[in-house]
Amino acid sequence: MHPVTRRAALTLAGAGALTALVPGTASAARPSADRFGDPFGLGVASGDPGPDGVVLWTRLAPEPGDPDGGMPPRQVDVGWEVADDERFTRVVQNGTALADPRDAHSVHVELTGLAPGREYFYRFRAGGHISPVARTRTAPAAGAAVSALTIGVASCANFGSGYFNAYRGLAADEPELVLHLGDYFYENEGSGVRDPGGSEPKDLDGYRIRHAHQRTDPDLQAAHAVAPWVVVWDDHELVNDWAGGDGEVSASRRKAAFRAYWEHMPLRRRSIPRGTELQLYRRIGWGSLATFHMLDTRQYRTSGGSITGDRQEDWLIDGFRDSRAGWDVLGQQVFFAPRSGGGKSQSWDDHPESRERVMQGWVDAGVRNAVVLTGDEHVHHANDLPLDPDDPTGDIVGTELVTTSVTSGGDGEDDSGDGGDENPHIRFRADRRGYLLATFTPAELRADFRTVDTVKSEDSGVSTAGSFAVADREPGLQEI
Ligand SMILES: [Fe+2]
Repeated sequence: MHPVTRRAALTLAGAGALTALVPGTASAARPSADRFGDPFGLGVASGDPGPDGVVLWTRLAPEPGDPDGGMPPRQVDVGWEVADDERFTRVVQNGTALADPRDAHSVHVELTGLAPGREYFYRFRAGGHISPVARTRTAPAAGAAVSALTIGVASCANFGSGYFNAYRGLAADEPELVLHLGDYFYENEGSGVRDPGGSEPKDLDGYRIRHAHQRTDPDLQAAHAVAPWVVVWDDHELVNDWAGGDGEVSASRRKAAFRAYWEHMPLRRRSIPRGTELQLYRRIGWGSLATFHMLDTRQYRTSGGSITGDRQEDWLIDGFRDSRAGWDVLGQQVFFAPRSGGGKSQSWDDHPESRERVMQGWVDAGVRNAVVLTGDEHVHHANDLPLDPDDPTGDIVGTELVTTSVTSGGDGEDDSGDGGDENPHIRFRADRRGYLLATFTPAELRADFRTVDTVKSEDSGVSTAGSFAVADREPGLQEI
């Protein structure tokens, strides 16, 4: 249990230019066509690592509160460098990307030709300014032996509801990979701890302003700077509780939210939105150790029917069949385990046949170890997954780890416990804000449920509310 200071987290994040991580001081004057202020106030990010590359992201925005970021309405050259070392004495690749006003001057550099399973450092330059330095890594080669992988898992970061102490703690823990499972930001105001960044977004300008406001947070920037992220959305990236072809959300609002999401996330080109669709489900392999099946349980959901849609479900179950991974991990949005007595709405309990087909898919494919990682719930949970929801202590075929929120819901209560007699498969719950650390080795999965003392001020301790392990080929959580 140690307090993590902001300065310590930023240093650990490998950011050489500390001051550049602090949101830029706004200047009143608009830039001329040829010059602009420090454009790196939103930080940098990387994502979707493969064995030969990763996506590098930034968005030029000297004035984050302006829809155009305060940039001139023209294309701007953005230099990028990738190095073996934090000081850039061994640069392995460099190049120039074009930041286009039609993309809100965001850049997505899809690297290739890097070595597998390696750490790298990167930075950008534009208009005479240099960005913070950040760390990323490539995935191990397909099938390669991997001794261990530690990931950070987070969801539900409502800016207005508090300070992102959880992101600062996550950065200090230095995971090798971060999975963000949705509600990256909120379209609502939150609970009044901080300025949410303007009124509720409904058009492209509004969503761009909200994303930029979120990205000015130094703790979020530190978390992006520590490792590549793999992101999927939940509902609040568009609007509360949207699902499927929801007729209540206009096509223009949906297009605007999807467009802004693409612009601000370190995603590959395949996720460029086409009309009212954005391809988000995808797989990230980590050698022979783990395969992450990242799901989109929002876009193809039908009321009372499938939560994934047929095409995504076929893709998922085919993926189990093809998998040779030690751990097959779903990264997805909403509570998966069956639960008596209710919980948050819109969970897999509303789509029991979808859940049954996924779990039967594990059994039929003979996956070695099945794990579900979940966001949305705003409470940490560790759940054994029974094949028959009516027999929760029967045949356990997988494990669900639910990460709490970063801020949503406020500080919460110290009421750690379990699911009681009604839900014996719910082995642990903790109603505090935080994040999850999960370490995979060939022999076991270890989960540490990290919690922060408060989100109401910038200073908070971080502690571990509970730790569990699952042994290889022996589903069933063991408390550590
Ligand atoms: Fe949420």
